[in-house]
Amino acid sequence: MKAIILAGGVGTRLRPLSCTRPKLLFPLLNKPLLDHTLERLAETGVKGVTLAVKFMAESFMKRYGESTNGMTISYSKEKIPMWTGGAIKYAEELIGHEDQFLVLNGDIFTTIDYRGLIHEHKENEAVATIALYSVEDPSRYGTVKLTDDNRITQFVEKAPLGKAPSNLINAGVYVLDPEIFDYIPAGRPVSIEREVFPKLAKQGKLFGHTFTDIWIDIGKPEDYLRANKIMLDVSTKKRLIGFGAKLGAEVVINDPVMVDSGVTVGENSQIGPYVIVGRDTVLGRNVLLENSVVFPEATISDNATVRGAVIGEAVTIGENARISEGCVIGDYVTINDNITLSKHVTVCHSKEVKENVSESTNII
Ligand code: GTP
Repeated sequence: MKAIILAGGVGTRLRPLSCTRPKLLFPLLNKPLLDHTLERLAETGVKGVTLAVKFMAESFMKRYGESTNGMTISYSKEKIPMWTGGAIKYAEELIGHEDQFLVLNGDIFTTIDYRGLIHEHKENEAVATIALYSVEDPSRYGTVKLTDDNRITQFVEKAPLGKAPSNLINAGVYVLDPEIFDYIPAGRPVSIEREVFPKLAKQGKLFGHTFTDIWIDIGKPEDYLRANKIMLDVSTKKRLIGFGAKLGAEVVINDPVMVDSGVTVGENSQIGPYVIVGRDTVLGRNVLLENSVVFPEATISDNATVRGAVIGEAVTIGENARISEGCVIGDYVTINDNITLSKHVTVCHSKEVKENVSESTNII
């Protein structure tokens, strides 16, 4: 079995952190999302993975090379963004026509049983089978109308509020038959959701497979924070302190918390709940850190408070600084001493913030 992982998106909604790393390499529990996905594919028995890449393609090549987890890794490198369908067509030669294959949107984490999905696809002799997940608000996603025998009769991408045919959304996990290549025009960007699935649905060749395991999309900062939160919730250990981490006197840890190796926490600091701290980060004394993800090598100085934020790599947060909910701080940013950022402030990488920010804004 082969799989294509769509990994070429720009990740606009996760800026500024996606300016310096592809969305698929954002850490989930201190490990890139794509590492988790590749591990699951290897467990399923997938032998070859094609990464459909464009934006920051080299970061993938550098990290995964030609093989990982016992699977071969090949790269389908697009010259221009080919979008979801065009990217699959572009990888046609690497995938070949021998067998069905899996396609995954790379920006989701799921524990779906791929084998069950593949089995159902074969039983139905479908051209495409879409994994379907039930959500409360389907307006951001593709939704379907499903018959009792799991045939999709209607596929609607991002239906306006209240107009979706159901709450079952396209989970971004598909099994496709090689026949799919005949449905995707070559040589231009194609959205599989807008151009191909509606056509297949009309022809009765599109099936759905509902599942209820974990499914998390990390598309927006709040989704990304939620993803880490869910992963902490489902983790068997509620407190993970990495090798060589040093916790000072009177440090209070409110589980669940995950601290990577080499992290230092100064005395009287309070960490958690729902905190993930990346490798070699230094937290000073009396720091309050909750509901946040901190990327590696950051510094959060004495008496600083960080709540509900994502702090990029090698960021420096000064003494007494306050970072509020929904803030996203790009890599290598410096927030000076005594600075307060109000809710939902984003700061572009490498900036220095010298003045308080009292309203939601992007500092670029
Ligand atoms: P936003 O800009 O924030 O919408 O993110 P995105 O560019 O990643 O787009 P989206 O979330 O819709 O993409 C879903 C999946 O398809 C992600 O895994 C993307 O990496 C991938 N993807 C999107 N566009 C392309 C493309 O042109 N080529 C390839 N190879 N993958 C793509």
